Amino acid sequence: MSFPPYTRNRVAVMANRLRWGIVSILACAVVGWASSEGVCAKDRQPDSGVPYQTILEFETTARLLAILLDSGRNVINENQVVLDEQEKMEKGFTADVFEQQLLDVFHSRSGTDLRDLESARIPARAKKLLKELVLVSKQVVAEAQVEIKRPGGGYTEFIPAIFGARAATRFTERTHVRLKQTSLAPRNPMNAPDAVERTALETFADPSYPLEKVISEITAKSGSLRLMFPLYTTRKCLDCHGDPKGELDRTGYPREGLQFGQNAGAISVVIPIRP
Ligand code: HEC
Repeated sequence: MSFPPYTRNRVAVMANRLRWGIVSILACAVVGWASSEGVCAKDRQPDSGVPYQTILEFETTARLLAILLDSGRNVINENQVVLDEQEKMEKGFTADVFEQQLLDVFHSRSGTDLRDLESARIPARAKKLLKELVLVSKQVVAEAQVEIKRPGGGYTEFIPAIFGARAATRFTERTHVRLKQTSLAPRNPMNAPDAVERTALETFADPSYPLEKVISEITAKSGSLRLMFPLYTTRKCLDCHGDPKGELDRTGYPREGLQFGQNAGAISVVIPIRP
C-alpha cells in the first residue's frame, strides 16, 4: 500500500495524539464526562455498579471500534480518486485491497495489529467486535463493487459517509453495539445528534478543546457506555465539506466551508453493558 507522504505523516501524528488521549484518560481514572477544559471529574464515581476494570475495558473497546470505523472511512476517502476514474471500469479496489489498507491504517493509528489479533493486548471483547467490524466493512466494499465500477458511481455514491453508514448499520444489527456518524449540522437527517451527542459535539467544536480527545460516560439508567470520537477534516474531505461555503459539491449538497484540520463531527459508540 502506498499513501501520499502527507497522509503517512498525518497518520503518525494521529497515532501520537491518540496515545496521549489514552494516557490522559487512564491518568484521570474516572469514567464520566471530561469537562471541556480537559480536566477529569475525579469526584464523579460511576454509580452503575459495574466494576471499574470492566468499565475501562468497555471504554477501550468503544474507542478502538470508533478508530476502526474512521480508518475505513479514511481508506475510502484516500481511494476516491481511484474510484472516480470514469474511464477505468475495472478499478481494482476490491474488498481484499480495502482490507489490507484498513488493517495498515488501523495499526498505525491504534498500535493494534489486527493481523495478529491473538497476541494483541486488548480486551477479549474488543477482539471479537473488531473482527466483526472488519468483516462487515469488507462486505460493504464487496457489495459496493457495482457502484464502484459504474462510470461516475464512485464519487457520488460510494463516499466515506455512505460506507460508514452501511458498515455501522450492519455492525449494529449483528452485535447490538451502536455505531453512528454525527455532526451538529448533518447533511443526512438520520445522522442528527441526540442530546448526549450534541453536548459532546459542541465541546469538540470549541477550537481550544484538545485534539482527538474522546468523551465518554457510563449511563446507569440505560446500562450502556457511550463514547464520542471526534473527526477532523483532511484535504480530501474539503472537496465536499470545505469552501466555497454554500456552493454545491459533487454529491449535490451545499459545502459547509470547513477548514483543514477542523472538527467535522464525531463517531458515536453505544455499548450495552447490561443485558
Ligand atoms: C465526495 C464528497 C464527500 C467527501 C470527500 C467527504 N464527505 Fe462527508 N459527507 C458527504 C455526504 C454526501 C454526506 C451525507 C451522506 C448521507 O447521505 O448519509 C456526508 C456526511 C458526513 C458526515 C455525517 C454527518 C452528516 O453530515 O450527515 C460526517 C461526520 C462527514 N461527512 C465527515 C467527513 C469527513 C471527515 C470527510 C473526510 C475524511 C468527508 N466527510 C469526506 C460528502 C463527502
